[in-house]
Parts: sequence; structure tokens; C-alpha cells
Amino acid sequence: MDRNLALEMIRVTEAAALSSARMMGRGDRKAADQAAVDAMRRAFDSVEIKGTVVIGEGERDEAPMLFIGERVGSGWQHPDHHAPRVDIAVDPLEGTNLCATGQPDSIAVIAIADDGQFLNAPDTYMHKIVVGPWARGAIDIAKSPTWNLSAVAEAKRCAVSDLTVVILERDRHIELIAEVRKAGARIRLISDGDVAPAVAATQPDSGIDLLIGTGGAPEGVLAAAAVRCMGGDMQGQLRWRNDDEIRRAERMGIKDPSRIYQLEDLAQGQVMFAATGVTDGSLLRGVRFLGGAASTHSVVMRSKSGTIRFIEARHHIGTKPGLDFLRQRS
Ligand code: FBP
Repeated sequence: MDRNLALEMIRVTEAAALSSARMMGRGDRKAADQAAVDAMRRAFDSVEIKGTVVIGEGERDEAPMLFIGERVGSGWQHPDHHAPRVDIAVDPLEGTNLCATGQPDSIAVIAIADDGQFLNAPDTYMHKIVVGPWARGAIDIAKSPTWNLSAVAEAKRCAVSDLTVVILERDRHIELIAEVRKAGARIRLISDGDVAPAVAATQPDSGIDLLIGTGGAPEGVLAAAAVRCMGGDMQGQLRWRNDDEIRRAERMGIKDPSRIYQLEDLAQGQVMFAATGVTDGSLLRGVRFLGGAASTHSVVMRSKSGTIRFIEARHHIGTKPGLDFLRQRS
């Protein structure tokens, strides 16, 4: 996978972030998501790849754009073109509620891998545990949260009470939260958006040591791409809402519905991950509109080199092609 693709990916997440950030705080999560999807779709048109969306906005009948199976990238326009064939996982606006209410950690995100290297995660839930490189090999999702907290504390050579765990605030996590509190770890409860804190858990100075709990399965695969690049660790197990979901997943190639996925089962081979902040958060700063210009803060990483780049960009709305949709309101 050409390393220059990393910069192309940032252009795509920047476009989605700039567009959806206009909708911050308006209380309309669907409009914010649509703005991100439209902008991301347009931006893909100028990227020289033959991309196939494997994690996207849903299946074709429920998502008009960036649906699973959709082909993106200019490489498809010329059949003989030598553009690389890649699988793409996208969430044009991860944390739609967060953007609609102006809360932290809403991001635009993409991960890419060579053909067939991502788990084709169905649109269901995944129980996840994520840690940074210092606790790689120490976690076991089949064991209790208490066991995992002790194992991570031992790997980090600290006390359990020094650890900060991010957990989605949901009724399904009442017991998990009680157990983590009993074990003595600090908790950061979040209302939505578990991708940014999962990635933050792999950064040395983010103030987050683990993410534990059940969130979206597609978000799990996106997070796994970043965790691979960072050398962290993650395990996941799909959590089904009903038998229909299991049957659909079987048609997508999932043979064992209770399988525990290791990090490399979720995202194999060479992967790249890119994200741009929409609202301020634990990983990235949000979009700032500066009157005729706007600034973005993004991160891009590649598993091959392990390099992680934070990129600040200033966009001139009047001159930059593709940002016309921002112009009338700047
Ligand atoms: P959206 O971006 O679709 O709003 O999803 C955000 C999210 O909070 C994810 O980050 C998380 O994994 C999942 O939804 C949790 O699902 P639920 O809100 O159903 O518990």
C-alpha cells in the first residue's frame, strides 16, 4: 500500500469533518451525518484507488451512499488503471449525537487495508477491550474486568487505582461499572463515540488506559485498525440482538457467532487509519471556523512503519476546490 495514500485519506476525513462541523450543536444528528457522508463521498472521487467499502453506512437498501459494497475512488473509472485495490472502513461522522449537541470526541474516520483484511463486521454490537502497547498480550476478554485491570496494572507497573477506564454509559454496563469501581480504577463515562477514546487508550499521554464495554461492531473494526498501527492490543466478541442478526452475519461469512476476535482477526495485514476531529476531544481538536478559513486537526497512521502523524491544516474556503459547500455560510 503506497504510503502517499495516507495524505489522501486525511483529505477525505478533513472534508467530512469540515462539512459536519457546520452542523455542530444544531440538534440534528441526521443532517450532520448526511453532511459528512456527502463530503466524504465527493472527496473519494479524487483519490486514485479502487476502493470497496466493507464497513460503511449500512447495507445498500438503507444507505444511499458509502454503503457496504460501494466502489469508491477514481481508479474504477479506468478499468486498466493500476490504482491499488483496497478495502475501506468508514464512519464519516462517528458520534453523530456528540456533533449534534457539541460534545467532545466526534470524529470523521477512515481505515484502509488490502483486499479482504478487515473483519466484515455486521451492524451489531461488539464487546471490546482496548489497551496501549505497554499492556500488549496482558488482556483476556474471556476473563473478568477485575482480572483484566490487575493484569494491565501489573504490565504498566502501577496500581489498579492509577488506571483510567473509558466506558459507554449504558444500562447494559451497570454491572461492569460497579465491578470496575469495586476494583478501584478511575472511570470516564462517555455518552457516545467509543472510537476516539479507544485510539486515545493507545497513546502514552492521553490519560486513558483502557476502554472496556459493548459498542458498535463496525466501530470496533475501525478502532482495531488504529490499535494495530499503534502496537496496542484489543479483543472483541460480537454481541447479537436477535437470531436474525446471527443469520445475516452467517451470510456475511461469520461462522462462529461467539468467537473471540484477537486484534489481527479484526484488522490484518497492512492497514492505515486516519481521523479528523469534528468537536474537541481526547484525541483531536475540533474544526475551527475562522471567517473565510477553517482549521482542522487530524491523525494518520500506518501499521507498516508505526509512524503516527498529527496534522494541523488551515483551509481557505474561498480558494479550495471542494469546499464550495462551506462558502455561502463563511
Ligand atoms: P453513531 O456515530 O452512529 O451516532 O454511533 C456512535 C456510538 O456511540 C459508537 O461510538 C458506539 O460504538 C455505538 O454508537 C454505541 O451504540 P449504542 O448507542 O446503541 O449503545
